[in-house]
Amino acid sequence: MTLAVRHLKLVAFRSYARLDLDVSAPMIALTGPNGAGKTNILEAVSLLAPGRGLRRASPGDFARKQQGIGWAITAMLETQTDPVMLWTGAEEDARRSAKQDDKATSVLSLGRVARLLWLTPALDRVFVEGPAERRRFLDRMTLSLLPDHAETATRYDRAMRERNRLLKEGHDDPRWLSALEAQMGEHGVALATGRAHVLRALLAAQSQGGAFPRAEASLVGDFRTEATAEDFARTLHNARGRDAQAGRTLTGPHRSDLAVRYAEKDAPAAECSTGEQKALLVSLILANARALHGETGSAPILLLDEIAAHFDANRRAALFAEIAALGAQAWMTGTEPGLFEAMEGRAQRLEIRDGGEGSVLMG
Ligand SMILES: Nc1ncnc2c1ncn2[C@@H]1O[C@H](COP(=O)(O)OP(=O)(O)O)[C@@H](O)[C@H]1O
Ligand SMILES: [Mg+2]
Repeated sequence: MTLAVRHLKLVAFRSYARLDLDVSAPMIALTGPNGAGKTNILEAVSLLAPGRGLRRASPGDFARKQQGIGWAITAMLETQTDPVMLWTGAEEDARRSAKQDDKATSVLSLGRVARLLWLTPALDRVFVEGPAERRRFLDRMTLSLLPDHAETATRYDRAMRERNRLLKEGHDDPRWLSALEAQMGEHGVALATGRAHVLRALLAAQSQGGAFPRAEASLVGDFRTEATAEDFARTLHNARGRDAQAGRTLTGPHRSDLAVRYAEKDAPAAECSTGEQKALLVSLILANARALHGETGSAPILLLDEIAAHFDANRRAALFAEIAALGAQAWMTGTEPGLFEAMEGRAQRLEIRDGGEGSVLMG
């Protein structure tokens, strides 16, 4: 069985007072005018995985303004084993919590069930902006293949923040610093190893001569992936003076960058046209989906916001065909129903309108 959302329920989430949606087809095409509430649905699905969702929103943004501070997303997922019910939401405070089959669980552990990937218009600039966005993109792919990645990243960040704070405040507690550096060594090397594993899997899973160009992705930066935890802890130890002066940690996997090249043109992605960059992103996402399918027997859920915008009819048809071949569940948005014509009978088409009392499904 492929991983898929079979039922989605929203309560007081963004523009939705309430939504109850049965999902019957592998592809879901959401159409409607700007501001209707299409992306809000994709965002709700994205919150079934750890993190801040596909808009990287602040926790306080999710609750429907007209209602209060509580909001909830409930989803019934078909998985390779039993169906799983996931719940995420917030009650009194803005921080979200999570439940799996009615039992409290951590938000970080949601990634073990809901493996998902997304492309949004904000990612159109990922190759020309700073490395943080690219790292996030790579980490999202890594998380889909290695669900522990989110927890590793959180632990690494926590240890690094604490070390930065100690250095900044001039604490002279070498044992405490060494303990934090040992943690950064362990989690930092795990982060880098996970990313390297994913990059190898992406290269292996890219199709030759398909509709989307081959994207060669690699890690760049001064952090050597072959370093051991002890090596990295020692590097940090030796850099205390320098990092104290800088007010932050200047080496480590938190500074790595993702370099992507358009293989056939032998050109860096940043020099390609916007349409080509989008096609490279799709290549990477599809390769990731293939790799996950190869490793686990199921593709991830794909959230493709305004995906059709940069593609002509041929590329759109090729994308739908690739998704169908993978058997992935894909949620896609667009302003015009015509963009999704090539999906034919494989899609559930939903039209959304702002109904005055919030977003509603038509028909
Ligand atoms: N917390 C919120 N409470 C109520 N409405 C919201 C909230 N957040 C966003 N919205 C509304 O949702 C709409 C945007 O929805 P979105 O899904 O991004 O539209 P689109 O269909 O263009 O993708 C806007 O009208 C916005 O005002
Ligand atoms: Mg939108």
